[in-house]
Amino acid sequence: MKKPAQIAPATGKLGILTPGMGAVATTFIAGTMLARRGLAQPFGSLTQLGHIRLGKRTDKRQPMIKDFVPLAKLDDIVFGGWDLFHDDAYKAACNAEVLTREHLDLIKDELSAVKPMSAVFFPEFVKRLRGENVKTQTNKMELAEAVRKDIRDFKKKNNLERCVAVWCGSTEVHHEATDVHSSVKKFEEGLRNSDAAISPSMVYAYALIKEGVGYANGAPNLTTDIPALIELAREHGVPISGKDFKTGQTLMKTILAPGLKSRMLGIRGWFSTNILGNRDGEVLDDPDSFKSKEVSKLGVLETILQPDFYPDLYGKMYHKVRIEYYPPRGDQKEGWDNIDIFGWLGYPMQIKIDFLCRDSILAAPIVLDLALFMDLAQRSGWGGIQEWLSFYYKSPMTAPGLYAENDLFIQLMKLKNVMRWMMGETLITHLGNEYYE
Ligand SMILES: NC(=O)c1ccc[n+]([C@@H]2O[C@H](COP(=O)([O-])OP(=O)(O)OC[C@H]3O[C@@H](n4cnc5c(N)ncnc54)[C@H](O)[C@@H]3O)[C@@H](O)[C@H]2O)c1
Repeated sequence: MKKPAQIAPATGKLGILTPGMGAVATTFIAGTMLARRGLAQPFGSLTQLGHIRLGKRTDKRQPMIKDFVPLAKLDDIVFGGWDLFHDDAYKAACNAEVLTREHLDLIKDELSAVKPMSAVFFPEFVKRLRGENVKTQTNKMELAEAVRKDIRDFKKKNNLERCVAVWCGSTEVHHEATDVHSSVKKFEEGLRNSDAAISPSMVYAYALIKEGVGYANGAPNLTTDIPALIELAREHGVPISGKDFKTGQTLMKTILAPGLKSRMLGIRGWFSTNILGNRDGEVLDDPDSFKSKEVSKLGVLETILQPDFYPDLYGKMYHKVRIEYYPPRGDQKEGWDNIDIFGWLGYPMQIKIDFLCRDSILAAPIVLDLALFMDLAQRSGWGGIQEWLSFYYKSPMTAPGLYAENDLFIQLMKLKNVMRWMMGETLITHLGNEYYE
C-alpha cells in the first residue's frame, strides 16, 4: 500500500452490490435508505457518526470521519445484488423480520425496486438451501462471464461511476485451499474445467475483481483468501478484505479479552453458546457450514491472548463455541458467555455475559462502512488485501505469514492512523511528551 499521491474524488454514483440479499443485506439497504431520507439514524456506523482526532489534544481538531476523508455520500448509493430467491428487497426484508413494517413501509417503493439478479449456486457448498433464482450455465467460467455481464449491465443501467461488493450470502462449507487456488493461471483453468473446489463465492469474487470491483467478504468463506484471487486483485489494483463480519459475541470477545489481558488476569475457560433462528442459523445448523464459522470464531482469542508468551495465564485455556438453531428466536439471537478467570495468586472468578442482540442490526452498519472504505481504497489505488479494515472482521485477512490483529482497539487505532496517513496528517502514537516540555 503506497501513500496515495492523490485520491480520486467520490463523484457520481456508487453501486453497492451484495451477493446474497437476506437479513443482513436488506437491513443494510433499508437502513441506508431511511438514513438518507432523515427518517432514522445510522447508529453503529463509524463512517457516518465517528470523529477523528487530528494533531495535538490541545489543537481541538476532531472532524467527522466523513468530512475528513473523501467518502461517497449516502445519496449517491445505488443498491443491487444477487440471490437464490426471487424476492425483492422489500419482500426479503419483511420475511427476515428484522425491521418493523412501520419502518419498511416508509421506503416500500424504493426497496421493492431492488430486485435480485439470478445467483451462481452449487448446492454442495450450502447444503441447507435450494435455489430458485439461479443461473442456468453449468460451466464455471461461463458463470463468471455471466456475473461480469450482470455487473456491466448494472453499471450502465444506473449510470454508475464505480461499484463495490460486500458478500452477504450464506456461509459456505469449510474447505481448504488446494492446487487450483494457488495461482491465477490454475484458477482460470479450474474455472474452465468447472473444478469442484471452486465455490460460488469464488466465481463472484473472480468476476467482480475482473470488472474492477472491490470485494469485502462478510462470511467466513475461503473465497478471496487464496493466492489466486489475492494475485488477481493485486494485478488489477482492486481492494479485497475479509473475513466474517465482527458482530455479536465475537465483538464482545474482542472488547473484553484485551482488557483482561492488559491487567494480566488469567483465563481458564471461555464457553460461548448462541441460540439463533434466522436463515443464517438454519444454514449454520449444517456441520460443514458451522465448521467455517467455528474456525473464524475460535481464532480471535489466540492472537489477542498470545498463550505462547503467557503460558501461565492462557496456556491451558479451554475455548468452546456453539451455535444452536432455534427458530422461535428469528434474528434476535441470544449469546451466552461463561468466562472462568483467575487473579492474584490464582484465585478463581467468573464472568457471565448474556447478550440479547440482533445480528443484522449489528451487521448492517458494518456493510455500509466496509463499502464506503473499500470504495475509498479503490479510489486511492490500493489493490490487494486491506488489512486496515480488520476492525470489521472476525478473521481478518493479512499478508501471507503475518498473524492477524484481533484486538478491537488496536484495529481501531490502525484504521484511524491509515486515514491520517493517507490524508498527510501526523500519526497519533499517544506518546504525549510535548505537553510536558
Ligand atoms: N448477521 C451477523 O451478525 C453476521 C455476522 C457475521 C457474518 N454474517 C454472515 O453474513 C451472511 C449473511 O447473513 P444473513 O443473516 O443475512 O443470512 P440470510 O440467510 O438471511 O441471507 C443470506 C442470503 O444469501 C443467499 N445466498 C446463498 N448463497 C448464495 C449465492 N451463491 N448467491 C447469491 N445468494 C446466495 C440466500 O438465499 C440468502 O437469502 C452469512 O454468511 C452470515 O454468516 C452475519
